[in-house]
Amino acid sequence: ATVTLTLHPAFSVAPVRRRTFGAFVEHLGRCVYTGIHEPGHPTADADGFRGDVLELTRELGVSSVRYPGGNFVSGYRWEDGVGPVEERPARHDLAWHSTEPNTVGLDEFMTWAEKAQVEPMYAVNLGTRGIEEALDVLQYANAPQGIALSDQRAANGHPDPYGIRMWCLGNEMDGPWQAGHKTPEEYARIATETARLLRQEDPDLELVACGSSSSSMETFGAWENIVLTDAYDYVDMISAHAYYAEKDGDQASYLASADDMDHFIDSVVATADHVRAKLKKDKRIMISFDEWNIWYQHRAESRPPQGDDWPVAPVLLEDTYNAMDAVVFGNLLISLLRHSDRVASASLAQLVNVIAPIMTAPGGPAWKQTTFHPFALTSKHAVGQVLDVRLTAPSFENPRFGESSTADSVATWDEESGALSLFVVNRGAEHSLALDADLTGFGDLELVEALTLHHEDPYAANTQDAPETVVPAANGSVTLTDGHLTGDLPAISWTLVRLA
Ligand code: AHR
Repeated sequence: ATVTLTLHPAFSVAPVRRRTFGAFVEHLGRCVYTGIHEPGHPTADADGFRGDVLELTRELGVSSVRYPGGNFVSGYRWEDGVGPVEERPARHDLAWHSTEPNTVGLDEFMTWAEKAQVEPMYAVNLGTRGIEEALDVLQYANAPQGIALSDQRAANGHPDPYGIRMWCLGNEMDGPWQAGHKTPEEYARIATETARLLRQEDPDLELVACGSSSSSMETFGAWENIVLTDAYDYVDMISAHAYYAEKDGDQASYLASADDMDHFIDSVVATADHVRAKLKKDKRIMISFDEWNIWYQHRAESRPPQGDDWPVAPVLLEDTYNAMDAVVFGNLLISLLRHSDRVASASLAQLVNVIAPIMTAPGGPAWKQTTFHPFALTSKHAVGQVLDVRLTAPSFENPRFGESSTADSVATWDEESGALSLFVVNRGAEHSLALDADLTGFGDLELVEALTLHHEDPYAANTQDAPETVVPAANGSVTLTDGHLTGDLPAISWTLVRLA
């Protein structure tokens, strides 16, 4: 079977947005403690941040990092996390049934973000708290010295405002599991009023209203409609969250997961544009896809502690990813990139240890999961304009979507440097696909490299003892002759072809 790709430099969707390559650090499990922060670790710096994790974060090519949650934020008091560490209170975190020591808070996170060279994205608590606390944390973070909260920041050793631009108005407020869960009408009101006041403090903020926690939420669609109808003038983005996993042995549907992401994005765009038409607005609302990943939620690693057990930084959501996960994951990135006209920001959930591309052993090494590779390569080589790639390929049947294409692809084209990057997945479990792409529209090109991530055993994974079991390897079958690209894409594989 063959996958034929049609692409041309004129078929541009939008510029590649650096913010597509964001990630997420939540006070959950070992993401913060023994993840980014571990004083005493052999690689830790003077602030207690693990140097190996900082290095891997930079290598991953992360653009922005959402913080401090997640479900955690909906019960969080931000002020517990500032000031002298020895005076900070420990508290129960109800979301993850853990004890939060508050050793790391906003100031520490901002110090880490600077070292990691990432843009911060800060979520406020609209679950157990409200407008006042949101304004307080904004003033603490962004106001120049001279008022109570900014002077407090200065007294804590940070005289200059942080200038955090992206703010999330709560987290997953549509979810019944969320502290302070709201109806769409209740959330629309508090989000609108919070956004209006945050803007009075600082008109240049980029504000994200909560959208749906998944496309299967009962309120999906109606939620976005009601929230945006109220908040339209005050927000820039609406969020989307999606997690995928192989369920009940249904490998075929799992391999087609990006079909759901496409549908999710297209539906939110349609709903936002419906509100735009209804309200007669010019501005368009963009999407912040600020939680996406593979997550095996039914596995024991995802079950929070119970009863009297309230541990600090327990092992939670520490999924080990296999080769197939990395292929599905690479395909989700293809979907996000393809929608760069409306997805203005995205955050891989999460960065370290918790459903993460980077894993650490306390006191020991850090290593790359299989998913690290498609993220790092896409972030590094998606440059210039995103191109719409049309393709023909055989389809395969699956219970969730009916029929899905065995291949999916997106490309980026940087006219200035003449770099063309082609990202393509073979989602079929049975057969390899013959790649066939006519690239004559791009003028004279040469093949720079072709890398394929694939393993004979789709369930092979990277572990602490064998961290290089699944890594991208040169695909020697890919050749370019007279502008014609051909090659072989093995079953269940993700490939990057670079030309210039
Ligand atoms: O990323 C893990 C959790 O998933 C987040 O805390 C929550 O927002 C989502 O349900």
